[in-house]
Amino acid sequence: MSVGQKLYEGKAKILYTTEDPAILLTHFKDDATAFNAQKKGSIVGKGEINCAISTHLFNLMEANGVPTHFIDRPKPNEMRVKSVKIIPLEVVVRNIAAGSLCLQTGLELGTILKHPLVEFYYKNDQLGDPLLTHDRLRLLDLATDDQVDQLIKMAKRINDLLSAFFQQCDITLVDFKLEFGVDSSEQILLADEISPDTCRLWNQNETDSDRRVMDKDRFRRDLGNVEEGYRQVLERVLRRDEG
Ligand code: TMP
Ligand code: ASP
Repeated sequence: MSVGQKLYEGKAKILYTTEDPAILLTHFKDDATAFNAQKKGSIVGKGEINCAISTHLFNLMEANGVPTHFIDRPKPNEMRVKSVKIIPLEVVVRNIAAGSLCLQTGLELGTILKHPLVEFYYKNDQLGDPLLTHDRLRLLDLATDDQVDQLIKMAKRINDLLSAFFQQCDITLVDFKLEFGVDSSEQILLADEISPDTCRLWNQNETDSDRRVMDKDRFRRDLGNVEEGYRQVLERVLRRDEG
């Protein structure tokens, strides 16, 4: 395979080969989609902002012993990552009820959950990323029992680290989605990105339920000032890192 060849284009990122087969280059796009790409748009500067926020949060994970695919950030909207085989699961962690949890359970938006909830969704656009039961996950052979145990442990640890970090930024981590990959020695690494595209983040300095939203819900729900929300998250993350 030649160097710089496009391997895969997703909704928010493009993956390229590099001179080293063990390393891939991720290009973060400004494109935004929601509701399985039924809604499409663009958020000015999103690629650079998400790449920067993800870089800081992957570094935070690595510093605390959570292995990730992150290597470095050669350009503002580019990240070099270890090549992994992505496990076709979207691992969602929830601390506060929002989004599909409210729609599917009737829980009121903002309800604080007694314990963080870890859920698995099938990463399959054609099927609309359905929620999985453990038995369905095993039926489809999407991960082994041992991998599922590891994913739950890693997701909870990541939630503890991210929640504490965002708390220091005066941001509440409501919920988020993670993806994981397996490297050539079968180690599970945190992959994809951690950004306002994949997290719900509420500004603790705002009480209004729409004004407090700093994440992709601004785009999903046409709340306006989408770029401003993302930029505020980055500013606070950078300020926290310096402080
Ligand atoms: P949900 O409430 O719509 O199920 O979303 C839960 C979390 O997962 C939320 O932080 C947004 C994130 N998410 C993604 O990153 N990608 C997706 O495709 C979906 C549906 C949600
Ligand atoms: N990323 C998903 C999509 O386009 C859904 C979402 O984030 O709401 O479709």
